[in-house]
Amino acid sequence: MNGLDIDYDRYDHVRPIRWTGDALELLDQRILPYTVVHAACRSSDEVAEAIRALTVRGAPAIGIAAAWGVVLAGRGLETGDPVDAARQLEPALQRLNAARPTAVNLAWALTRMRRVLAGAGRDWCDALEREARAIEAEDLAANRAMGRAGAALIASGSGVLTHCNTGSLATSGFGTALGVIRAGVADGRIARVFATETRPWNQGARLTVWELAQDGIDATLIADSAASHLMKTGQVQWVVVGADRICANGDTANKIGTYQLAIAAKHHGVKFMVVAPSSTVDMATAQGDLIEIEERDPGELLSYKGRRTVAEGVRAWNPVFDVTPHGLIDAIVTERGVLERPDATRMQALFGA
Ligand code: MRU
Repeated sequence: MNGLDIDYDRYDHVRPIRWTGDALELLDQRILPYTVVHAACRSSDEVAEAIRALTVRGAPAIGIAAAWGVVLAGRGLETGDPVDAARQLEPALQRLNAARPTAVNLAWALTRMRRVLAGAGRDWCDALEREARAIEAEDLAANRAMGRAGAALIASGSGVLTHCNTGSLATSGFGTALGVIRAGVADGRIARVFATETRPWNQGARLTVWELAQDGIDATLIADSAASHLMKTGQVQWVVVGADRICANGDTANKIGTYQLAIAAKHHGVKFMVVAPSSTVDMATAQGDLIEIEERDPGELLSYKGRRTVAEGVRAWNPVFDVTPHGLIDAIVTERGVLERPDATRMQALFGA
């Protein structure tokens, strides 16, 4: 496909989610890059708390973690009746769903788990485990397919800028936008990689450039505020980002700061690519202004490592996602295909059925 020659394993060493058979082990993203440690979750409520606290983060990864959370919740039940199990599990599913509001992958994964339960027999517990495994495996396969398809859009010798962390850390492996960058580097198309810090949580500074370093991919960190200047100097030809929810008209919610990157890209003639699996597409939401935008603790802005860095009495507002209108997006890359100049008609043609 696309004639790209990619050694997937050479450029993909990090795995954020491990199922041990008894517990879900999550690479703790709150303390990377200096401390590389897995936190073990043994109940669905521990998984919900890990999602809320950003121990695990990134849209596909929180969907996968939630699926394993349902498996853990099922372990505690004695019933052989799947209907009874579904009734008893529902409160745990609701708590998982409430952990974070913006990324649709969370609700999508829980819907899949409910559907499996509804069609299962007395082996419903094993059926849930098979489904969680399938969600994880499908995500990796989708990322590899998107990597090839997205990289094929990028001309040889290009520079790219990415935002937040969309890599193996945010998925079951390989990554979405970072998967395109991995594939583009592996194929020799991408000559320069830039990553934003991604304030206030610093997913770019703490996670993306660390993850790329694990795979031997050279990357340059910039302050978020340096992005327009970078574009003006001609060093990047594409901005490549992930997504937390793509609406029926192509409007895309992603990490706060994505929208201003898209505006700056349009101004400078830099192309803008969104890379996300179909589990991130929400055809039930017509347009971006209907998406709930998560707001987190203002303390993320007012302090560093628990120590206040801003004068007492100062308030902060901390929305952690924004919406990029589809008119600013040159391509949406999914495992089902590439949509150039996305709009409601093109979205319907690819995802309507
Ligand atoms: O708050 P986060 O770190 O979970 O936000 C993650 C992002 O916005 C990512 O860009 C998005 O989920 C795509 S991850 C493949």
